Amino acid sequence: MGLSSAWGGDRDDKSMSATDPRHAYGSMHVMQSGSHVEIDSFIRSTIQKHGMEDAFYVLDLGLLVRLFQGWVQAMPRVRPFYAVKCSPDRALLTTLAALGAGFDCASKAEISQVLDLGVATDRIVFANPCKMQSHVAYAASVGVNLTTFDSESEVYKVKAHHPGAVLLLRIRTDDRGARCPLGVKYGALMCEVEHLLRVADNLHVPVAGVSFHIGSGATDAFSFTDAIAAAREVFDISERLGLPKMHILDIGGGFTSGCSGSLKFSDAATAVNYALDSYFPLDMGVKIIAEPGRYFAETPSTLATTVIGKRVRGEVKEYWINDGIYGSMNSLLYDHAVLKYRPLICLADESKNNNCHGDCSSLPTHNSTVFGPTCDGLDTVLQGASLPDLSIGDWIIFPDMGAYTAAAGSSFNGFSMSDIPTFYVFSINLQGCSTLGYLKGIAPQLMKGCVPDLNAAGNIIENWAVNCSSTSGRQISVSSGGCS
Ligand SMILES: Cc1ncc(COP(=O)(O)O)c(C=O)c1O
Repeated sequence: MGLSSAWGGDRDDKSMSATDPRHAYGSMHVMQSGSHVEIDSFIRSTIQKHGMEDAFYVLDLGLLVRLFQGWVQAMPRVRPFYAVKCSPDRALLTTLAALGAGFDCASKAEISQVLDLGVATDRIVFANPCKMQSHVAYAASVGVNLTTFDSESEVYKVKAHHPGAVLLLRIRTDDRGARCPLGVKYGALMCEVEHLLRVADNLHVPVAGVSFHIGSGATDAFSFTDAIAAAREVFDISERLGLPKMHILDIGGGFTSGCSGSLKFSDAATAVNYALDSYFPLDMGVKIIAEPGRYFAETPSTLATTVIGKRVRGEVKEYWINDGIYGSMNSLLYDHAVLKYRPLICLADESKNNNCHGDCSSLPTHNSTVFGPTCDGLDTVLQGASLPDLSIGDWIIFPDMGAYTAAAGSSFNGFSMSDIPTFYVFSINLQGCSTLGYLKGIAPQLMKGCVPDLNAAGNIIENWAVNCSSTSGRQISVSSGGCS
């Protein structure tokens, strides 16, 4: 069995031909650090090995493991329920499932995708305050009970279609500096809370706690503090009304693992821990969960695109690439993204390649514009970019492209930018925190009966894939102490 069936989930995808390069990554590439140099070298060899012309992603599952480890160390009280909408990549979901994460699903399809991994229903929160009736009924049929609401009509809907549902009241808590504020659309106002709690109580729909989301790509740590304080107010209102004791707090998303301009993860964690200790001390016995998407998905994914066209207009060099606004770069519109980019590495022209020896940084750069492949003028990816003179067949690499990118891509103009191949790598990062050591602890549980050959670092993942048929959401324990 190849890796794709164990991790990539494409075993049943009839739309892929046997020659699809996605079938060719039978052994996951293990690398030392996951640095740009290593990633670029992997991209170069992938292009050459598979004759790649299409854009593709490289997803570093080793970095994902370290991010999970970092989360547990930074906020040991807060169990992450990964927000599937951010990137529903199956290997990413499978890895998080094996690490013990829960999942935030917004729709029937997302619930179904997570259940397919073998994840237990109590590890899913249906975190959409306004759901379609049929999706509520589906959640009822599969036993996904925990869901959010922020309006009276949603309580009636849930009452009618999901007798076993347990609610979290989503309250409005904004970070006005967030890249994507959500408060305009979601969250009950404090003045509405008492009424909503009474409505739910009258209908005998239990409200187990509170959820909020301070906005994606948050910038202000105090937004977490304020939101947690507001959630405590709701717990107090519920107690004053004599309602059943609330016992779940869902602190939403808004976390970032590395992007400049956003709130540093360590600062967010400090604020969250402080606020939890102040408003939800351990002896209250409240279960704390979060719904991080961007934190896990963004930095492990790198997008490689090909230069498919070129024009020179005066001083400005213009290029077309094979992904754009209607594909991964929809993030420019919907996620207010600022793209990072780097050229790779003069593949098209041997003489250039010899000049820069695989590193373009010494080449002179030019004011450049980069367009996406569709015929829409809006489909412009970069303006005023600083790039060396590229040729058709060269590549432009976009790091940190895993969050809210391909997940919302389309096939506009017949370019299939919603289905971009992904190649998986695993960086071990032996300096500092050793993922390899970490894997020693989790591997036997992750792959029941399949203990990988830990002496052969380069084959760890391959062995797993060859010997094991499923990671089926088996839960493993993750210690918060160190990386041994
Ligand atoms: C309800 C909900 N939960 C979680 C998330 C994930 O947020 P983030 O990617 O900022 O962690 C979102 C993003 O929009 C959301 O709407």
